[in-house]
Amino acid sequence: MNLKQEVLTKLESNRGVSISGAKLAKELYVSRNAVWKAIKSLQEDGYSITAVTNKGYCLSDNTDILSAQSILKYLNTNSDNLKIEVYKTISSTNSVLKKEAELGEPEGKVIIAEEQTSGRGRMGREFYSPPDTGIYMSILLRPTITAEESLFITTSAAVAVAKAIETVAGCKASIKWVNDIYCFDKKVCGILTEGAMDIENGKLKYAVLGIGVNVIQPKGDFPGDLKKIATAIFKDGDYTTDGKSRLAAEILNYFWKYYKSLENREFMEEYINRSFLIGEEINIISGNAFRKAVAIGIDKECRLIVREEDETITTISSGEVSIRKVPNI
Ligand code: BTN
Repeated sequence: MNLKQEVLTKLESNRGVSISGAKLAKELYVSRNAVWKAIKSLQEDGYSITAVTNKGYCLSDNTDILSAQSILKYLNTNSDNLKIEVYKTISSTNSVLKKEAELGEPEGKVIIAEEQTSGRGRMGREFYSPPDTGIYMSILLRPTITAEESLFITTSAAVAVAKAIETVAGCKASIKWVNDIYCFDKKVCGILTEGAMDIENGKLKYAVLGIGVNVIQPKGDFPGDLKKIATAIFKDGDYTTDGKSRLAAEILNYFWKYYKSLENREFMEEYINRSFLIGEEINIISGNAFRKAVAIGIDKECRLIVREEDETITTISSGEVSIRKVPNI
C-alpha cells in the first residue's frame, strides 16, 4: 500500500471524524507535509476531505467513491486475506484477471470496476456495464476440484449474491437457474465463471468468478430490449451512501464462507429454495429451436428437472440451453 492508500484507510475508518495531520504523520511514520500531499491528491480524485485548523482532516460522511479501502472496512475476518484492486473503468474484470491468473497471481485477488467497456456474459453475449450504476467484480480462485465440480462455484456465488442484495438493498432476491439473480421479476445480476484445466490431473488450474450487479437504474433506463428484462436492486432515490462498497463486501463475505467448504454444498438447499423457475412454465431454448416444459426441481448435481409437454421427466445440465420463464398473462 502506498502512502495515499494508507491515509485513505485511516480516513475511511474515521469517516465524519477529524483526525489531525500530526497524528496521521506519526501513525504512518511520515512527515506532515507528506500527509498533506496525500490528502491533496485524494481531493483531486474527488474525495470530499475538509481541513480544519486545530482539528485536522475529515472525510465527509457522504463520500460514495468505490475503493479498496471503502470495501475493506465492511469485510469480516472470514475474507480479510483478499487482495482487492478497484478501477474506475476497465475492459472486463474477468479478462484482466484471467491474464493475471495465467501469470501466476495467487488465489484471493479481486478486481472490481465501476464500468466495463467490454463486459462479457455467458454464451459469448455482451454484459451491459455502464459507468457509476453497477459493480463488476472478479475473484481469482485456485481450488483443487474437477471441471464438473466448478459449477458449484457459480451456484454458491449465486446464493452469496442473493443474500448480499437482501442485506444491503432489502429486496427479495431469487436465483434463475443457473447463474442469474432476479429482483422485482427482472434480472439484476449475472455470473460468469471461467477457468483453465490442468490436463495432467483433470483438475482446475484456476477459476475466475465474475459477478456483475445493477445497483442503480441507469439515467434514461437500460437501452433497447434490455429494459424489458433488466432492473437495478435500488429503486429511484433509495440508494444510500456507500451502498456499492457494502454490497461488494457482503458478496465477498458470504461467498468466501461458502467457498471455504465448497465440498459441503451447504448452500444448495438455499439455492433451490430461492429458485425463480421451480413451479413455473418455461421455454427451453437450444439454438433456434425451443420447447415448452414446467420446471419442477433442481437435483443435487444442480441439473434442472423439468416435466416435458408429453409428461416425461427430464433433467437439463447448465451450458446446454437457455431458459426463459413464460410470462403470466
Ligand atoms: C451473464 O449474465 O451472462 C453473466 C454476466 C457476467 C458479468 C460479469 S461483470 C464482471 C465480470 N467481467 C465480465 O466481463 N463479466 C463478468
